[in-house]
Amino acid sequence: MTSKETILADTESPVGATVRRFDLLAKAVGQSASSPDDSPLSRASSLPQVLGPTLDFADVSLILGRTTILDKVTFQVRPGSVHALVGPNGGGKSSLIKTLLGQMPHQGRLSLQWPGEPGTISYVPQALEFDRGLPMTVDDFMAAMCQRRPAFLGLSKNYATAIGEALERVGMQDKRKRRMGALSGGERQRVLLAQGLIPPPQLLVLDEPMSALDEAGIRVFERLLGDWRAAGITVLWIEHDLEAVGRLADQVTGLNRRVLFDATPQQALTPERLLTLFSTHPRSLA
Ligand SMILES: Nc1ncnc2c1ncn2[C@@H]1O[C@H](COP(=O)(O)OP(=O)(O)OP(=O)(O)O)[C@@H](O)[C@H]1O
Ligand SMILES: [Mg+2]
Repeated sequence: MTSKETILADTESPVGATVRRFDLLAKAVGQSASSPDDSPLSRASSLPQVLGPTLDFADVSLILGRTTILDKVTFQVRPGSVHALVGPNGGGKSSLIKTLLGQMPHQGRLSLQWPGEPGTISYVPQALEFDRGLPMTVDDFMAAMCQRRPAFLGLSKNYATAIGEALERVGMQDKRKRRMGALSGGERQRVLLAQGLIPPPQLLVLDEPMSALDEAGIRVFERLLGDWRAAGITVLWIEHDLEAVGRLADQVTGLNRRVLFDATPQQALTPERLLTLFSTHPRSLA
């Protein structure tokens, strides 16, 4: 099997890869109202086997104005692994992801090694900022995100099935005709997860996907994570819930402007390491 490497230069997005992403980062979405429907858990579908890429961050720095946001960040994400990125607020986690997606300039070397032809990267953003008054249904949103044809023409046949399945997997099938603005924060988060499933990615980048989810939503997410791991998808996952990281990740990188540790959850999530990671303000790191 041939291996293709994509090296990302300053401001470059992953050449040759299909990158699906939002350009809007957002204010925090509200806490979810309870949504008891977790029926997809009992009928999870298995995903086709893929081989995700390897990600290599080598001395990646990001300097905006006079501020160093990322300082010589070096670590590797193994193919098919669930790799968590943890650290304090403002530590540079989202910025690192935006650098990976080509939305921010960087210094250093950032490369993706694909096992074959460059594949699809999906991105689930930290939150979604949009006008709650917009007359946009869940279906409209999914159509706008997933298909090329304009959303006002409705769902193309090709995508209607895939979109239906994705919404089913996150337990939102019965809310397809709801306005996005009428959804709870947790329901919106589920829709964001659903759009990340189409087309099926080889690399999935998740920025705090659990932050607004309720209990049922968290169970849906955990099931999805299990499916992605079983399918061989590489998952880079920013998460504040350290208990979930300890349970579900294969590897954990602690980031506070620079990499403070990169190890298995058992080795990484020790009280000493977490204290060092979370007790230092990014600005005070010399
Ligand atoms: N476009 C920008 N211009 C200037 N500074 C920025 C920009 N984007 C982010 N920053 C700064 O970079 C630092 C890192 O922000 P980032 O959003 O990457 O942190 P984070 O680790 O994702 O935090 P959180 O856990 O709160 O989401 C912050 O100090 C932030 O203010
Ligand atoms: Mg962030």
